Amino acid sequence: MAIVWHPDTREFHLQNSYVSYIISLLPDNSPGLAYFGRPLDLEGRYSRLVRFEDRGLTTHQSGLPSSFCLDYVPREYPTYGRGDYRIPAITLETEHGFPVILDLQYREHWIVQGKPSVPGLPATYCDSDAEAESLMLTLEDPSYQVQVDVHYTIFRDYPVIARRASIRNGGVQALRILRAYSAVLDLDSSDWDFIHFSGAWARERHVVRRPLAPGLQSIASSRGSSSAQHNPAIMLARREATETAGEVLGALLVYSGNHSIEVEVGSHGDTRIALGINPFGFKWNLSPGDVLETPEALFCYTDHGFGDLSLSMHQLLGRHLVRGWWRDRERPILINNWEATYFQFDEQKLLDIARSAKDLGIELFVLDDGWFGKRNDDRSSLGDWEVNRDKLPQGIEGLACKIVDMGLSFGLWIEPEMVNPDSNLYRQHPDWAVGSILERRTLGRNQLVLDMSRLEVVEYLYDTLSQLLSQVPISYIKWDMNRHITEPVSAALPADRQGEFFHRYMLGVYELYRRLTEAFPRVLFESCSAGGNRFDAGMLAFAPQAWASDDSDAIERLAIQWGTSFFYPPSAIGAHVSAVPNHQVGRITPLWTRAGVAFFGAFGYELDPNKLSESDKAEIRAQVDFYKAWRRVFQFGRFYRLAGFCAAGGATGGMTGGPAGTGQGWPGSRPAGNSNLVAWMSVSEDSRRAVVLIVQVLARPNPGFYRIPLRGLDPDLSYQVRCRPALPVKDEAAIRYNEGLRQGDELINVGLLLGGDGWNGLSRGDFASWLFTLEG
Ligand code: GLA
Repeated sequence: MAIVWHPDTREFHLQNSYVSYIISLLPDNSPGLAYFGRPLDLEGRYSRLVRFEDRGLTTHQSGLPSSFCLDYVPREYPTYGRGDYRIPAITLETEHGFPVILDLQYREHWIVQGKPSVPGLPATYCDSDAEAESLMLTLEDPSYQVQVDVHYTIFRDYPVIARRASIRNGGVQALRILRAYSAVLDLDSSDWDFIHFSGAWARERHVVRRPLAPGLQSIASSRGSSSAQHNPAIMLARREATETAGEVLGALLVYSGNHSIEVEVGSHGDTRIALGINPFGFKWNLSPGDVLETPEALFCYTDHGFGDLSLSMHQLLGRHLVRGWWRDRERPILINNWEATYFQFDEQKLLDIARSAKDLGIELFVLDDGWFGKRNDDRSSLGDWEVNRDKLPQGIEGLACKIVDMGLSFGLWIEPEMVNPDSNLYRQHPDWAVGSILERRTLGRNQLVLDMSRLEVVEYLYDTLSQLLSQVPISYIKWDMNRHITEPVSAALPADRQGEFFHRYMLGVYELYRRLTEAFPRVLFESCSAGGNRFDAGMLAFAPQAWASDDSDAIERLAIQWGTSFFYPPSAIGAHVSAVPNHQVGRITPLWTRAGVAFFGAFGYELDPNKLSESDKAEIRAQVDFYKAWRRVFQFGRFYRLAGFCAAGGATGGMTGGPAGTGQGWPGSRPAGNSNLVAWMSVSEDSRRAVVLIVQVLARPNPGFYRIPLRGLDPDLSYQVRCRPALPVKDEAAIRYNEGLRQGDELINVGLLLGGDGWNGLSRGDFASWLFTLEG
């Protein structure tokens, strides 16, 4: 890993064993990207890769060659108004609204070992300076003395470049920022597919793939959270890219608020990616001397397909973004009472659930919504974080102690950012709610949002929650956020600062998270937002895991966890087994399949074990034992998508065979994806242990044979393959064809053998699954 400055050709070369990122200073003294891709020789000179030619209908600056038109050259932090008509990284005006046409020129640079932190914002970090090297380019506008520090970090072990920008007003007049993206990446071709992770409540992060076309294509959130609608991460992939081959480029924003990721195909087949805080509604006053820090953006490049991108991002986020006590520790198996009781519980009911859970081997009991104020439904009490003694006569402390005495850890749900109009907090501080100065406000789930841009609100919440955490033996917090923000104005901000509200809200949330996680470092935080409405890297920096979706149906979860897995590691994905018929879709799936899907994440249960039959309880006991034995592989292993939804280059991923004539393993039958069969696996760090899940959504009569080649194994190792624990209906064929000692190279090149089970196939029914373990 190195960052080298070549003064002769005025270029910077960031290089590690996986990538080179080369920045050239252009004739106008601004930086432009010469190359991002497989590593190139550090001693080489690459400025000539930035090409410019005279063209018709172009503009050029006086004193510079007429061929140098900003509209066609790659630029690292582009401005508007000097001939580049593509998306700018930054736009400003004076406090009186006069447009500021910036001319950002290179002034100086620093190269340092390690990675400096970002004031006030979550970001990736290093444990030692040997793990990364950073470059800061200072650009300055000579007339306004606006300085932009463009920060770069290259990590030793990942094909990733971290970028962000700090904007400083070094002049004497007040300015207003209208747009401040974190980074722009200019590519010299547009022959890419644009892939993003979109959806809604209960169907988050479904993969969407479409070819790039001239003009703008984008995703964004203006909802006050990163949103279930569009996750702040995208990929560009060559059309032929698959899970194992081809160029894929990922861009992810470490931010939980309003974001925007724009991709623009220019008029000469070039592509610009710009990402950062959503400029819609954003305005930031920058007085002389002020600095605005933008969130971190991560760019990942690989020519080894989606799988390789995912492995790199999982490791980077898992080891260099997630922090603290829980980063590398196995996460407890939990039981959450939400779907078991909703708001209707008392202490006895909770203790009964906890006792059965303990008997099943579960480790952590989580009390969800409804324990405070007079909350018996979602109409009141958010904000009043005092126990409801009608339900819990001995308080949270009494309940927690009884649970801890049983040998379980105790966890609690909170929703600190919210307030119900029917609450003591609201009656005391009506102005603490967002939009309080407006006559009419919009409710979401009967609640208003607290103004986290206000210091006193953050302070109040810190005091309230730290008291709770100090008094009660709480090991885990589920931090929820159950609505989007409307009427986004703050009673505490002057008129000309209202455009700062959304970002200040996020800074307040991060500050509260920072203070609580620092004060209570052993508490495991799980973030949640009506399921996966704020499942992003910003949250992961504080909460090592996130409830992925309110949809706990195993089949729906296939699509959700599949999409989530492109960037986020399994240890971050909260996944639970719930009761059937499923509460979101009414589907009845086998208990074993529900567990199989949830195993590949931070595992738990969301049901009342007392309502289960003895045989279901026995099965859960077996699941819990199994998960404990394989937990490290599930949570921290290398995760591979083997077969399933699109995005990974067609319907089948790596699967071969299948019914003739369909062109895929199984004909598509689900609207969310196009495969009837989903398979993924996790492999231990030393490649000696692996676990493979195969889910067949709908049963097919008399199917053909197929095989699923595996990945991440050691070709030279012999693996003991087991199909286990036993399926409810024994699959003799799966056992006969796969169990036994098999060589790694065979498992990689040939794979597991399935299908052809005409009779068994019928008897197994829909939503069947197979779980194979491999031990070498
Ligand atoms: C959200 C969460 C659920 C549950 C409820 C409680 O919807 O996603 O898991 O905690 O709130 O109100």
